Amino acid sequence: MLQQLEKLKLNALQELEDINTVKELESWRVRYLGRKSHLTNILRSLTSLSLEEKKAVGARANRIKSYLGDRLSQKGQVLHALELASSSEGEHIDITLPGHHLPVGRLHPITQTLDEICDIFGSMGFQVVEGPEVEWDSYNFEALNVPKEHPARDTMSTFWVNCKEEKEEREMLLRTHTTSVSARCIEAMEPPIRVIAPGKVYRYEASDTTHVSMFHQIDGLVVDKSITMADLKGTLYEFSRRFFGEDRKVRFRCDYFPFVEPGVEMAIECAVCHGGGCRFCRNEGWLEILGAGMTHPGVLHRGDIDPHIYTSFAFGMGIERLPMLRYGIDDTRLFYGSDLRFLRQF
Ligand code: DAH
Repeated sequence: MLQQLEKLKLNALQELEDINTVKELESWRVRYLGRKSHLTNILRSLTSLSLEEKKAVGARANRIKSYLGDRLSQKGQVLHALELASSSEGEHIDITLPGHHLPVGRLHPITQTLDEICDIFGSMGFQVVEGPEVEWDSYNFEALNVPKEHPARDTMSTFWVNCKEEKEEREMLLRTHTTSVSARCIEAMEPPIRVIAPGKVYRYEASDTTHVSMFHQIDGLVVDKSITMADLKGTLYEFSRRFFGEDRKVRFRCDYFPFVEPGVEMAIECAVCHGGGCRFCRNEGWLEILGAGMTHPGVLHRGDIDPHIYTSFAFGMGIERLPMLRYGIDDTRLFYGSDLRFLRQF
């Protein structure tokens, strides 16, 4: 009987080796472990044996039964996994395939530049403020010493907004510079004031390599007791050092803006020719990057700040110019063409 059992075990294991489907495995189970299987019959017939035989055969038969049961469930798991992997519905799961590439976006180069400039001024104690893009004439022009008939209005071709006012005059516009936000701060805040206002501005102009009708500016304003031109120069030198690098030379020259007196323009040395003159700087040797000056007393006065107690400086710069200078980009329109081949480079 014991020999029979060993033979049965051997046969069962041999057959199990060759089984390749779940279905075959099930018939193997019925054959070797089912109710009518040889093994079950042997276990049933134990009663007819002597006590000693009963012990020996019974123990062996039970051990073989549980061993075959284990092998059955192992083989079952393997076959299930294989059948899943090659199921006929074509749902192949190939865990060795590389994952799907999910495209990741990035910040627009102009946004990156704005962030960088805000960080620099932020670390110097400036607070970032925002104002409306659809603005009143009073903040964009009047509060800044540019009354109705002032010729400076012609230099900023304006998009006017149609709005029904009691007066016939046009009062609403798309802001032509972010200095309008500085005008709002002078009116609404108490000194000491130290703010920068980044944002979009609009000019009614045909576009070419250096002009687009929507672009970006950052305006800066400092109002406090005994603020001087030295503070203005020191602040802007520091900005230039941090943004353009330690050894770019900076030049200040007189300029005119109605809301500052005196007014200056700041230029940095051309990185290509270092002042000698080349195609990149249109033979100037220098590149203008911002306008600035000591805020006109009339502008402070209009915002209820006493110019005898407080003095102030302001500056304003176009943003598009900066990455153009840094990366040698020769057409502003590229920033707004939505061409990903261009934008992905930053
Ligand atoms: N708002 C001027 C422009 O768009 C730039 C400017 C010049 C801003 C001098 C200022 C300033 O705050 O002080 O051309």
